Amino acid sequence: MHLTGLHCHIGSQVTATDDFVMAAKAMCRLLGEVRDRHGVELDELNLGGGLGIAYSADDRIPAITAYADRLLTTVRDELAARNLATPRLAFEPGRSIVGPAGLTLYRVGTGKQVAGLRRWVSVDGGMSDNLRPALYGARYQVAPAGRPRPGGTAEFSVAGKHCETGDVVATDVDLPDDLGDGDLLAVAATGAYGYAMSSNYNRLPRPVMVLAGDGSARVLVHRETLDDVLSHDVALG
Ligand SMILES: Cc1ncc(COP(=O)(O)O)c(C=O)c1O
Repeated sequence: MHLTGLHCHIGSQVTATDDFVMAAKAMCRLLGEVRDRHGVELDELNLGGGLGIAYSADDRIPAITAYADRLLTTVRDELAARNLATPRLAFEPGRSIVGPAGLTLYRVGTGKQVAGLRRWVSVDGGMSDNLRPALYGARYQVAPAGRPRPGGTAEFSVAGKHCETGDVVATDVDLPDDLGDGDLLAVAATGAYGYAMSSNYNRLPRPVMVLAGDGSARVLVHRETLDDVLSHDVALG
């Protein structure tokens, strides 16, 4: 075995650059300890991923350039103080690359008003294409898509179609008052941990994934069919 370097990953959706700086310092210290104790200067330092993205207008996220500048400065200073050469640096900022690039479109189905509580609309997806709200209460920005909505707004909650209490796409969000059957709803920043954590919960087929921009579009992942979902089933007899 040849040990090429050290790797760390302190968490995901981290929004304080100071936390990454603390981790980088600890890793540089460890590189120094490895050299001092074993006489080996490792070739690679991987500082993992975790840089957060904005899910709501209030989220304050450091620019990726500011994050990179601070980490590079920290690593250089820490290594220089220990007389270590800078190893190959690697980063794994998954969510911050693909998260903001994704947007989920749902079709609104039926709705209901629960007297004195809240107004619900249902959509044709939910926890099978985006598990995060059901798994740990993640919140998203939701907006109507498809046609201008000049009227007023009302507070809605948006339910998925999986027949589970936790299958809620968004709670208490402002949407057009006349939102109803057939309308399109857009949920922002679903490019990370959406498709990758998707499932065939209740044997639902996964939706199509489309790359769109500059007036053109192409399919990235085909819409699953019921035959796809059943394709591993083995018939008896
Ligand atoms: C080892 C490792 N690297 C990178 C990542 C990506 O993290 P993020 O998408 O938050 O940047 C993860 C996710 O948990 C991880 O476990």
